[in-house]
Amino acid sequence: MDHFLYRDGRLFAEDVAIAEIAAEVGTPFYVYSTATLTRHFQLFDEALEGTEHLVCYAMKAASNQAILRTLAELGAGMDVVSGGEYARAIAAGVPGERIVFSGVGKTVSEIEQALTGGIRQFNVESEPEMQAISAVATRLGVTAPITIRVNPDVDAKTHAKIATGKSENKFGIPIARAREVYALAASLPGLEVIGIDVHIGSQLTQLEPFEQAYRKVAELTEVLRADGHDIRRLDLGGGLGIPYTRGNEAPPLPMDYGAMVKRVLGHLGCEIEIEPGRLIVGNAGLLVSAVIYVKSGEGRDFLILDAAMNDLIRPAMYEAHHDIIPVNEPAPGVEQQPYDIVGPVCESGDTFAKQRAMPPLTDGDLVAFRSAGAYGAVMSSEYNTRPLIPEVLVKGDQFAVIRARPSYEDIINRDSIPEWL
Ligand code: LLP
Repeated sequence: MDHFLYRDGRLFAEDVAIAEIAAEVGTPFYVYSTATLTRHFQLFDEALEGTEHLVCYAMKAASNQAILRTLAELGAGMDVVSGGEYARAIAAGVPGERIVFSGVGKTVSEIEQALTGGIRQFNVESEPEMQAISAVATRLGVTAPITIRVNPDVDAKTHAKIATGKSENKFGIPIARAREVYALAASLPGLEVIGIDVHIGSQLTQLEPFEQAYRKVAELTEVLRADGHDIRRLDLGGGLGIPYTRGNEAPPLPMDYGAMVKRVLGHLGCEIEIEPGRLIVGNAGLLVSAVIYVKSGEGRDFLILDAAMNDLIRPAMYEAHHDIIPVNEPAPGVEQQPYDIVGPVCESGDTFAKQRAMPPLTDGDLVAFRSAGAYGAVMSSEYNTRPLIPEVLVKGDQFAVIRARPSYEDIINRDSIPEWL
């Protein structure tokens, strides 16, 4: 459920007309709904009620300070994967003890940054990384809380580029080697082993792969406890999928996910952490764009938009589907026609949809890409020297620009010309 609905034929974000935002900030832009963000966070929080838990928002999905602050005020922790994300979380007011640090290649300076600023735990992905954390913690005279990410070798049944839980993926340590690696961890100075971490992929549309992985984690918990490790926290990663096609898909609800987690892991008495990204912010955001031209091609019509692959890379990168809807609701009974919906970038890959049925549109009309809140703005670039597009946050009848569009001068001034030129 989200808060982007038509009212009297016009698309609204909560109580603000999209066209009103477009008139003020220009297109294209991203817009997020506070009510949807809040609702999605609370769904997860409620799904784990009765179990000690922390929902650590995977901020790689959308990391604007205003989004982080909104979630932090609801009590969210953060899952970060770089020193930059760590700094963003701290700047948004998230205390270090609510930040978990994931990722396969944490550098010495990132480890030092987190140990100095405060950290809930590192999710360790390899032995060399574990040794690096041990060395930095020892040098700083502190103890680093760690979990070890295990790779359970289950098929997440999602797009190959976003599956992470098979043995051929670069993530975690093979679960078969877990005892050996935990023994090493226990022998190293500066580390405190507190739990197990697992994350098998993103945009999962079934519970079964999660359940398979969590059953393996449950078994491992008992084995490691018998080996003498104090396993008291389980980080279960993120990955619960969202419906990208309206009316066609029904991925499991957070409530069902939570019930499964309690059923499979509840008896262990561990604190549970989860790291959802997409489900919290995906359907809380739209990308709004204007039609520049309608071009008639050989047997097909192109809608050329002012948004492009640099603003939303998902269709080009993962063949991802996003519903695209007109901001002015089509009159009932209007006949739809197929369009190829493209951006202005000089690559054929700059195609959002092929032969998509849309009501007839014309220059200047606004369209909205649904489900664009996650992995939209954060994956954008300034390719073709197209400025990063603004982000806007709506709350009730208020809206605010939470990231302004840079000017050409801002962009050019980021470069510098060496003195020999
Ligand atoms: N935890 C870890 C360790 C992760 O690697 C990820 C996502 C998450 C949590 C959050 O997963 P989510 O709940 O958002 O599915 N750019 C791709 C998605 C990449 C996901 C990477 N890791 C896309 O646009 O589909």
